[in-house]
Amino acid sequence: MKALILVGGFGTRLRPLTLSVPKPLVDFANKPMILHQIEALKDVGVTEVILAINYQPEVMLNFLKDFESKLGIKITCSQETEPMGTAGPLALARDKLDDGSGEPFFVLNSDVISEYPFAELIEFHKSHGGEATIMVTKVDEPSKYGVVVTEEGTGKVERFVEKPKVFVGNKINAGIYLLSPSVLNRIELKPTSIEKEVFPHIAADKALYAMVLPGFWMDIGQPRDYITGLRLYLDSLRKKAPAKLASGTHILGNVLVHETATIGEGCLIGPDVAIGPGCVVESGVRLSRCTVMRGARVKKHACISGSIVGWHSTVGKWARVENMTILGEDVHVCDEVYSNGGVVLPHKEIKTSILKPEIVM
Ligand code: GDD
Ligand code: MG
Repeated sequence: MKALILVGGFGTRLRPLTLSVPKPLVDFANKPMILHQIEALKDVGVTEVILAINYQPEVMLNFLKDFESKLGIKITCSQETEPMGTAGPLALARDKLDDGSGEPFFVLNSDVISEYPFAELIEFHKSHGGEATIMVTKVDEPSKYGVVVTEEGTGKVERFVEKPKVFVGNKINAGIYLLSPSVLNRIELKPTSIEKEVFPHIAADKALYAMVLPGFWMDIGQPRDYITGLRLYLDSLRKKAPAKLASGTHILGNVLVHETATIGEGCLIGPDVAIGPGCVVESGVRLSRCTVMRGARVKKHACISGSIVGWHSTVGKWARVENMTILGEDVHVCDEVYSNGGVVLPHKEIKTSILKPEIVM
């Protein structure tokens, strides 16, 4: 089977992290977001993943080349010369997706995290005989998503409304699809939206089905949702593979510590923390609800909560970093500095406290 991952867009809502790498390569729970997806696809027998890309393809491919051989999966690129939206890239990759076998293929938004129940999705798709299946999930704030209204019992989609202005329902498109090759006949080779211009038509033809996604789901393309997503991901890991989580008297709740990271004496870490490869957490540090990315150093007695520390950054002694502070790559927060919601661009040194949420350029 094949899969196409939509990796276009500039990831502006996840700046400053996306100033260093494209959004799909931003680490989540100690590995690039897109690797979570590729590994899960591989597990259900996908042999080729096509990345639908509209900028910086070299960065992405160079990075993923390593994983091609490690994971034993083919990763190719389909490059747009102009942004083709969420449907146009399928038409562009048509020859790769439709190999004549009639087999359905996966399409994923690159910024959604879940347990990826792909095996169940394949089974459901085969059982209903329609053209397309989308996964749906319930959320409290449906207006920022695609809302789906389904027929009770069968899952047949009656309506698909992208980002509705008035309340339509609370079941939303999770950005995970399994499509039969016939869907490609509905898409023209031009910039188009699958949510606005393709799904509503398949629904009108009564050939679009929705499956309620079991387990957790989050679009992690914004800092606040990223931090919530980590909590949900770690909760799920606790149930499925608790041995992967850290334990000890210095650990509180769910904490993921990379095997190459070191943690000093007298720290208190957790809940909902990810500490990446090569990180150094010195003694007496307090971490909660945060991500510390590869190569970062947190010095003695610093306190970080509800924040993201980008690659190779340092947080000084007795510093306090909180309230959705996002440090880009290679940022240095000096000793005793306080950051309340600072969003700091890469390679900056922060010598004075940031007292209210603001962007530091
Ligand atoms: N190749 C390519 N080209 N990819 C693109 C382009 C493009 O021109 N534009 C967007 N994408 C990719 C993004 O990188 C992302 O993976 C996916 O398409 C969806 O775009 P977002 O910008 O993240 O959309 P959204 O989050 O506002 O809404 C979408 O996701 C929701 C779930 O998170 C929609 O699919 C909604 O219906 C859905 O509920
Ligand atoms: Mg998104």
